[in-house]
Amino acid sequence: MKQTVKIIIDGKTFELPIITGSEGERAIDISRLRQETGLVTLDPGFVNTASCQSRITFVDGEKGILRYRGIPVEQLAEHSTFVETAYLLINGELPTQEQLNRFSVMLNDSSLVHEDMRAFFENFPRWAHPMGILSSMVNALRAFYPEIPERTEEEEINITVTRLLSKVRTMAAMSYKIFRGHKVIYPRHDLTYAANFLNMMFNSPVKPYVIDEDVVKALNVFWILHADHEQNCSTAAVRLVGSARVNLYAAISAGICALWGPLHGGANQAVVEMLSQIHANGGDVAPFIARAKDKNDPFRLMGFGHRVYKTYDPRGQIMKKVCDKVLGKVTRQDPLLDIAMRLEEVALKDPYFIDHHLYPNIDFYSGILLRAMGIPLNMFTVMFAIGRLPGWISQWKESIDNPNWKIHRPRQIYIGLKQRDYVPIKERG
Ligand code: ACO
Repeated sequence: MKQTVKIIIDGKTFELPIITGSEGERAIDISRLRQETGLVTLDPGFVNTASCQSRITFVDGEKGILRYRGIPVEQLAEHSTFVETAYLLINGELPTQEQLNRFSVMLNDSSLVHEDMRAFFENFPRWAHPMGILSSMVNALRAFYPEIPERTEEEEINITVTRLLSKVRTMAAMSYKIFRGHKVIYPRHDLTYAANFLNMMFNSPVKPYVIDEDVVKALNVFWILHADHEQNCSTAAVRLVGSARVNLYAAISAGICALWGPLHGGANQAVVEMLSQIHANGGDVAPFIARAKDKNDPFRLMGFGHRVYKTYDPRGQIMKKVCDKVLGKVTRQDPLLDIAMRLEEVALKDPYFIDHHLYPNIDFYSGILLRAMGIPLNMFTVMFAIGRLPGWISQWKESIDNPNWKIHRPRQIYIGLKQRDYVPIKERG
């Protein structure tokens, strides 16, 4: 039976439908509310608002569940690769061997970056943040790879998607090499997606990079865990900007900008900065916990808390295991790992963190993993961006394929001054 809710406004009753998702989530459909009642809803930060119906990713924040296209992220982290997971997210199904081979070949064929783009990379100031460079360069891709009118829309999208997945990875490694003043290393056709990235980052004419399959696996897991997370800030940005029917490069560039923020993707860098600060202050976590609890202090424990998870972030648990393995492998002791574990232990027993349901999120351990791999701090969020690309692309595709598509245009409640007259400058007090 169709379920509804009733609301009474000025004595008049209105009935609104309830819609139920495939995992039993229920929502009040207010799409006709304004038309029927003249009222809008107010929901700062969209805490209670579903902006779309989606078939891509399921998150249960109370139970700590994350699934892509129905498959638990734990299974993908164990058995899949980033390329296969990207295919799954974008196309809805796991690929056959033949489809996977074809996709891998397409990624390989698209991996070079137009040589003229190098001039742009080389002329950013040395201190420019790689996320700013990446968002600008992704937007610039449209100029270098314009739409070709003879192609069908589907062909154009497939080519753009492959280019983005492949070139963003190349551009990330390229910007690092240029930043260091080193020779740019080109992608190789005989290496897998993740191995190719590590090689482009760390190979050098004087010190060949030796590819370690455990590190390659860890990077695959890192990217799989970041591949999508339903309607987070950057994905919402991609959908919103994309809703104006802008090209995909521009929509992804907007997502990269949103991800840059320390409350979102920038948190992995912020976590390591915070752990380094604790280390520099002698390693005692107590003053930092006290500051995080002080309402008069804006300091927050980076890597703790999540808008959706009110229990452990399932990705954080997997990340912690991978982190242990890679640290063991590189036989590098990291004092920050000990501090992170102490911080986690103390915070999880503290009534403030318990009452506020604040648990470690994915970023809490991912920064330590990236450090162990030799990724520099200012590239951490770029690593997240490469991982999130399949999610942004699939969400953009779903959004533009929706027959009920609408440009995203929220309402507001105006609380400013009422109408008043313009005062000439000489008469202003
Ligand atoms: N340290 C201390 N207190 C916190 C923290 C934290 N990390 N996170 C939330 N709180 C407190 C807030 O002060 C607030 O307390 P109050 O209700 O007593 O005023 C309460 O918990 C709720 O906080 P909100 O900011 O309203 O929660 P919201 O869901 O909007 O924010 C967010 C979630 C942004 C992730 C927040 O927990 C935070 O800032 N965490 C630190 C940054 C971080 O790790 N970000 C990565 C997120 S994961 C990702 O993007 C992949």
